[in-house]
Amino acid sequence: MPLERVVISLGGSILVPGEGDAEYLQTLASLLARLAGERMLFLVTGGGRPARSYIEVGRALGLDERALDEMGIVVTRLNARLLLQALGPKASPSVAESYEEAEEAGTRHPLVVMGGVRVSLTTDGVAAELAERLQASRIVNATSVDGVYTADPHRDSHATRIDRMSYEELAVIAGEPTGLAGPSMVFDPHAVRVVKRAAIPLIVVHGRDLASLEGAIVGGDFVGTSIGA
Ligand code: UTP
Repeated sequence: MPLERVVISLGGSILVPGEGDAEYLQTLASLLARLAGERMLFLVTGGGRPARSYIEVGRALGLDERALDEMGIVVTRLNARLLLQALGPKASPSVAESYEEAEEAGTRHPLVVMGGVRVSLTTDGVAAELAERLQASRIVNATSVDGVYTADPHRDSHATRIDRMSYEELAVIAGEPTGLAGPSMVFDPHAVRVVKRAAIPLIVVHGRDLASLEGAIVGGDFVGTSIGA
């Protein structure tokens, strides 16, 4: 039987927020290396605050959205490289730059890392498109909130977490694509459309809650939100 494929979107906001990042990356990498092998893991790293800083400065300099997206992609690949250093020999040794490369790397290694692929996308979109191509069992979105809330929990203290929801309900919360570089939302609206059309289960967990991240990856228990048909 072919191994199960799981795609994990690792938000830049949990990889490099500037709080114990090296220690977290080391622990995260050990967990991912332990779980890879029994299943194949495809990791997609986001750009987070560093990407947004570059995009803001570039925008103030008058760069167009395409050039800003290209800078964002470079930062997502830099984060991929950083994580790759900690992953060890189970991981494919270079950052995949396309879905073809990622799929090909997966024939030789149970752990594959990539960042962005093309302009006008986010790494959630990359994770969704890759999962569709690979017919992945599920996508885990490891982000800076522990699930999808009724409102932004960083801004609204009355927001409550939704444990289970449909693709349609998530699409309403995700809203419409902004068309601008550096958007920030729980899961990008384009990515929601892709997971819905491919009918791939999506799980949103806090990426620094490693017990929940493990549960979501292996199909066990977790604190977070489950999204499906
Ligand atoms: P991210 O996917 O990190 O954006 O890519 P994000 O929504 O800020 O995600 P978090 O906070 O890390 O979870 C950073 C930027 O890089 C460009 C976009 O401008 C995006 O906002 N990008 C990324 C692309 O243009 N194409 C890609 O394939 C990936």
